[in-house]
Amino acid sequence: MSYRTYVQRCISSECRAEFDLDARLYVCARCGGLLDLERRGEVDSASLRELWRQRRASFDPRDRSGVWRFREFLPFTDDTQVVSLGEGNTPLYDAPRSADYCRLPQLKLKHQGCNPTGSFKDTGMTVAVTQARKLGARLVACASTGNTAASLAAYAARAELMCAIVVPSGNVSHAKLAQALDYGAKVFEVEGNFDTCMNLIRELAADESVYLVNSINPFRIEGQKTVAFELAEQLEWQMPDHLVVPGGNLGNSSAFGKGFRELFESGLIDRQPKITVVQAEGAAPFAKFYSDFAHEHFVNDEHPQTLASAIKIGAPVSWPKAWRAVQETGGTVITVTEQEIADAKAIIGRDGIGCEPASATTVAGIRKLKINENESVVAVLTGHLLKDTDYVIKYHSSNLIAPNGEKLESTFAQDLHDLQDLQDILKIM
Ligand code: F0G
Repeated sequence: MSYRTYVQRCISSECRAEFDLDARLYVCARCGGLLDLERRGEVDSASLRELWRQRRASFDPRDRSGVWRFREFLPFTDDTQVVSLGEGNTPLYDAPRSADYCRLPQLKLKHQGCNPTGSFKDTGMTVAVTQARKLGARLVACASTGNTAASLAAYAARAELMCAIVVPSGNVSHAKLAQALDYGAKVFEVEGNFDTCMNLIRELAADESVYLVNSINPFRIEGQKTVAFELAEQLEWQMPDHLVVPGGNLGNSSAFGKGFRELFESGLIDRQPKITVVQAEGAAPFAKFYSDFAHEHFVNDEHPQTLASAIKIGAPVSWPKAWRAVQETGGTVITVTEQEIADAKAIIGRDGIGCEPASATTVAGIRKLKINENESVVAVLTGHLLKDTDYVIKYHSSNLIAPNGEKLESTFAQDLHDLQDLQDILKIM
């Protein structure tokens, strides 16, 4: 059916250094560039599609996972003991109210918040923690704005590995922190932002017994790339014109780019969607890089600010991969305001779907993009509504204050009512 071999390869066009699959590296040992897992081998696309379809009726835990079901495109042998929580297999919803809000006849939302720990991180973590165990690591670690932490804590618990998490103090939602604690992780709170935590954890990962699983780790990206496969399958291999994702540390956009490229090069799809990355206006170094005509210097944002705490990131480590994805697919990078995020989030809720603030940048961005109504669009919701309920309650009680101190409008708020209101409503029905 398919044979495959893998190497790790530096993505820098001047370097392209090659490393063994199991070299414990996060960046290129020669030039410091990002690493890709490079697959060599042939595929028979028609038989693969059929095999993947058949696996949906199987009870093998690997086939029940929306990640490992596509294992022909993962860098492991068939006898690998995988660390899985049955991730993936997330719904692709039609969202008519959100579509209307974006002035489109149709909009589909791929809800990655329906993963075991409530965010898209699980699709990458199952692969990264499987690799950690294969390498004999004792401790897995990450810096996080909350979701990576919750996900890693759960997968580490399943793999019986120690887990250390570094988070920016006071900047992680209670729900995410609660998950990490409940799954048994050691949580370290640091004064500073996500970027401070990321620098710290990279220093720590110099120790051989520690395995770093932030999205700089190419195995994380391999897992996350399978979402492109699952989406293609859900759309019967007919790609949409646009795929829209939020941008923080830029691992997700990188992963979609890699996934679509591999699908295209293997003949599984006949065109790639344009990847659009949406950032919050106050934490938008990638959007600034994109709009700089020369695209020469990436300038980090020293003071990222947004209420969408998941994407409050000023120094995204994966930007060169995300840039490659945007360029290769002819996509774009835009920003949305705090008000636009808040309102789009409320509309997604009205579709009966819901998400956390960072995910709502997508619908806010699509509205802003003014996409032609005969073009098809899929937006990726990255985290579950219950990840940040404080934000929701503040919005609906007209109490949401932007980082610059401005009070946001609660345009689509639902007030909290008393019983008299119910009686009044019943009277007029
Ligand atoms: N949406 C959610 C809900 C997130 O948690 C994140 C990132 C993103 C979007 C951005 O994705 O980093 O791949 O561009 N959260 C990380 C964390 C940083 O630590 O949980 P990205």
